[in-house]
Amino acid sequence: MRGLKNKVVIITGAASGIGKATALRFAEEGANVVVADFADGTATVKEVTEKGVQAIYVQVNVTDMENVKTMVAKAIEVFGKVDVLINNAGITRDAMMKKMTKEAWDAVIDVNLTGVFNCTSAVLPHILEQKSGVVLTTSSVVGIYGNLGQTNYAAAKWGVIGMTKSWAKEMAKNGIRFNCVAPGFIATEMVKKIPEQVLNEKILIKVPAMRLGEPEEVAAAFAFLASDDAKFINGAVLSVDGACTL
Ligand SMILES: NC(=O)c1ccc[n+]([C@@H]2O[C@H](COP(=O)([O-])OP(=O)(O)OC[C@H]3O[C@@H](n4cnc5c(N)ncnc54)[C@H](O)[C@@H]3O)[C@@H](O)[C@H]2O)c1
Repeated sequence: MRGLKNKVVIITGAASGIGKATALRFAEEGANVVVADFADGTATVKEVTEKGVQAIYVQVNVTDMENVKTMVAKAIEVFGKVDVLINNAGITRDAMMKKMTKEAWDAVIDVNLTGVFNCTSAVLPHILEQKSGVVLTTSSVVGIYGNLGQTNYAAAKWGVIGMTKSWAKEMAKNGIRFNCVAPGFIATEMVKKIPEQVLNEKILIKVPAMRLGEPEEVAAAFAFLASDDAKFINGAVLSVDGACTL
């Protein structure tokens, strides 16, 4: 990919799954990585640095604005700049609407929607000042099409698409791009929570390839959208779903 060498990328939720695969992919492209996660990200840092780039782990709770500001300050202190933010931290608290608690609603909105607002707000002054930057966010096919048992998750994942499109309109003139990736069902810890019977009978049946996606296949989309190859792509939602929604 063009233009990722020596870039600095903050990836939230990079301790595992899609975020970790994305950290490794950006490292392969020559970018330095801030592994930002609530959970321990030191294993990701080790694997990233083995690829010959620099990486740091910053523990962050994306729901806490002060925490998020500290994350961005640390990135700038160590690397001197931020070029790419990948808003990827996310959780699920699934329940059918008639059983969904306010607590489950708040938890998912706080991380998956407000967390994206917080991280983007904190990075914005820096990328506006340098007149370049890319902000990418992990949405989901569930945000576009809805899903039973995921009122909270669908609301947040649809919400980040609206935010991304608004930011693209507001800030294209500042040399900054905003895009979403909408994964289908990807083989990570999050999907391991789905009962096997539901996975086989309700989910895989909808995927023409009859398989889950790999985290690396989502990471490739992030690398493309952050690169100069995508420099006229702004406000877009790139589905990485194996055609499961057709
Ligand atoms: N796996 C899928 O099928 C799938 C499909 C569509 C979208 N997504 C989205 O992809 C993203 C990554 O999910 P994944 O599948 O890799 O799951 P994952 O559980 O492996 O990774 C999520 C990461 O986010 C971190 N995190 C959670 N809450 C946090 C917080 N408050 N602050 C900081 N970090 C926090 C977790 O510690 C974890 O490392 C999520 O936004 C998820 O909604 C996943």
